[in-house]
Amino acid sequence: MASEILSLEQRMKWWREAKFGLYVHYGLYSILGRHEWVMNRERIPLAEYEALAGRFTAEKCDPRAWARLAKDAGQKYVIMTTKHHEGFSLWNSAVNPFNAMNSPARRDLVAEFVEAVRAEGLHVGLYYSLMDWHHPDGARCFHDPAARRRFVDYTHSLVRELVTNYGHIDILWYDVPWPMKPDGWESARLNYMVRSCQPHILINNRSGMDSHGSVMPEDFDTPENVVKASPPYRDWESCDTLNHSWGYNVADNHWKSVAQILGLLVSCAGLGGNYILNVGPRGDGSVQDEAVERLRGVGRWLRRHGDGVSIYGAERATVEWMNFSPLSPCAATVKGHTLYWHISHWYGSDLWIGGLKTKVLGARLLSTGQAVKFRQTFASDGATDRLHLYDLPAAAPDPDLSVLVLECDGKPLQQLGAGCVWMPEVL
Ligand code: GLC
Repeated sequence: MASEILSLEQRMKWWREAKFGLYVHYGLYSILGRHEWVMNRERIPLAEYEALAGRFTAEKCDPRAWARLAKDAGQKYVIMTTKHHEGFSLWNSAVNPFNAMNSPARRDLVAEFVEAVRAEGLHVGLYYSLMDWHHPDGARCFHDPAARRRFVDYTHSLVRELVTNYGHIDILWYDVPWPMKPDGWESARLNYMVRSCQPHILINNRSGMDSHGSVMPEDFDTPENVVKASPPYRDWESCDTLNHSWGYNVADNHWKSVAQILGLLVSCAGLGGNYILNVGPRGDGSVQDEAVERLRGVGRWLRRHGDGVSIYGAERATVEWMNFSPLSPCAATVKGHTLYWHISHWYGSDLWIGGLKTKVLGARLLSTGQAVKFRQTFASDGATDRLHLYDLPAAAPDPDLSVLVLECDGKPLQQLGAGCVWMPEVL
């Protein structure tokens, strides 16, 4: 048993600065290439699905390449699916014989993954699905007390392996608590065990605890495929797909562009959350070029822009423009007295920002450092406070996303409301 469990503030410190992570969905479903829910969606019989383990060779699976890719992309942590809903463990489990060591691959992919991610200096996260379509008690546990006992013991033993056999683990990322409630899973006891082994570990909100009013939902919320800020007292991380699937999907070509990814990353950072973006390697473990290109593109942008100074360590901003939309193709992040204004649609040499209540002391382009001229007017009724930036380059300084740095004389504050200047009573 390790020492004292750390406080939430201590535990979350690195994570709150990290902002950007890589998610890896890899399992037997990757061999079929028809989404990770294929077993359920196509009602594949158990024996037929199990046979996939005999085809799991993972010959191009290189966790070091995944970790390097994350590093190149500017991501600070990597989370891998150690056991998805299909019930196949990617590690050498003494409890679950349906695992990667017993497949032709004969590898403990969790061991390799953890070592590879650490070697790149990144933080390590392990995903674990409580829902299990393979275990005979996976559904029966709902109504059969003996099955529940067996399945809960099984689950706790598997999680114990993950948090005791691989050294320091930074994040435990549960998924889908179907078909039980947290008291059925004995989630409080489970997570206490986890924290006793890994006092610093962060646990997401999917061990069912949040569906059960009386207990804490653990450390952070996990909105999926959407940017949705939790209330200020809750940490959150938006998890997202690069195309439309988590697991490898041969027919899915709906790739997000670098500009879209950056927009989502900035929105999360500005709203006080993290953004974790997924790749689904093919059955052999290789990552599609489309994914690699985009992730590297994001990394290049971060390097071009002060090594991600506008992203990492950003605070929850107190401005109104934090989500890109046709209404305001800008999103802000804030660090101390600095406001980073991210602009996705460049209108040319002039830019106006309304409702900024804080005095701007200086403005420059982040990518080049070039100073930007501006004049700021504060109206006595506060209704027409405007910042006018002028003599800007005619073309966007960056094809994907341009950034203006505004140094302010206090914590940046923007208030707009929905009204307009000729209706001052509602402003
Ligand atoms: C969902 C899906 C799953 C995916 C996960 C990622 O709960 O069931 O396939 O792994 O979200 O957040």
